[in-house]
Amino acid sequence: MSESKSDATYTMGRTQGEEERLIQQSQLYDAVTRRFFREAGISSGMKVLDIGSGPGDVALTAAELVGPEGAVVGVDVNPEILETARARAQAAGFTNVEFVAGDARTLELGNDFDAVTGRLVLMYMADPADALKQLATRLRPGGIVAFQEADFTPYQQMPHSPDTPLANELIGWVLKVFERSGAHIDMGFGLYRAFVEAGLPEPYMHCEYPVGGPDGWAGYSYAANSLRSVLPLLEQYGITTAEELDVDTLAERVRQEVATSKRPIRLVPHVTAWAQLAS
Ligand SMILES: C[S@@+](CC[C@H](N)C(=O)[O-])C[C@H]1O[C@@H](n2cnc3c(N)ncnc32)[C@H](O)[C@@H]1O
Repeated sequence: MSESKSDATYTMGRTQGEEERLIQQSQLYDAVTRRFFREAGISSGMKVLDIGSGPGDVALTAAELVGPEGAVVGVDVNPEILETARARAQAAGFTNVEFVAGDARTLELGNDFDAVTGRLVLMYMADPADALKQLATRLRPGGIVAFQEADFTPYQQMPHSPDTPLANELIGWVLKVFERSGAHIDMGFGLYRAFVEAGLPEPYMHCEYPVGGPDGWAGYSYAANSLRSVLPLLEQYGITTAEELDVDTLAERVRQEVATSKRPIRLVPHVTAWAQLAS
């Protein structure tokens, strides 16, 4: 895992468009999260701490699984995005979830949680193992630690196809911008090391990613919106320009390249890892 002394520049930015992109992302990855949480044992009546909740999708998935007898506390350093999370929880009728603003590593929330969860959050932290160590202190004995993180390293190993120049270029830009921002691009598979270095049991792990697809597949506009969110940093780091990216036509150009090359694009792999503390 790449070393960095401070947290990453939050690669995706903090715009309204980014909030919408995160919600769109959930449509593509929530099925993975739901299966993962079930496998990890998150179930009725539990009290769950979800960190880096953003607009709330992971916390709401947990809230559904723990049911009215359980409770979820979602934490995010960005108080504004939690307004969206609260509004969405209320609109969906959840009464068992609350959101608290602050740094999940230091916020005092008690130590009686049955599970601590997070998706796409450790990758932005300077020391994910240390963060996991802190977070595990919020759990009761026998508590569950369950994280889902992106891993971009399969892109580095993927042979570039000569008939997918656009996809090849986008992958190159994405790798560069995440690396340059200080995010851990290998956080997904790095979860194993992070768990062990945090003193947690070795985790059970899976890796999944959406691949697509037909016209109307959400992955095209999601991919374009992801590039839109990182565009300020792409320009700031001199990786590419708004003109070259031409983000407004990007989804359709990727779609056309898939149709012509007959090679579906692979979205970013998400790796899940969970472990249970000793009782
Ligand atoms: C990529 S978003 C993921 C949001 C959500 N987990 C999801 O999967 O839809 C990462 C979120 O983590 C939050 N975050 C980053 N570092 C954090 C920290 N130290 N404590 C709490 N939240 C943090 C960011 O503000 C951002 O909202």
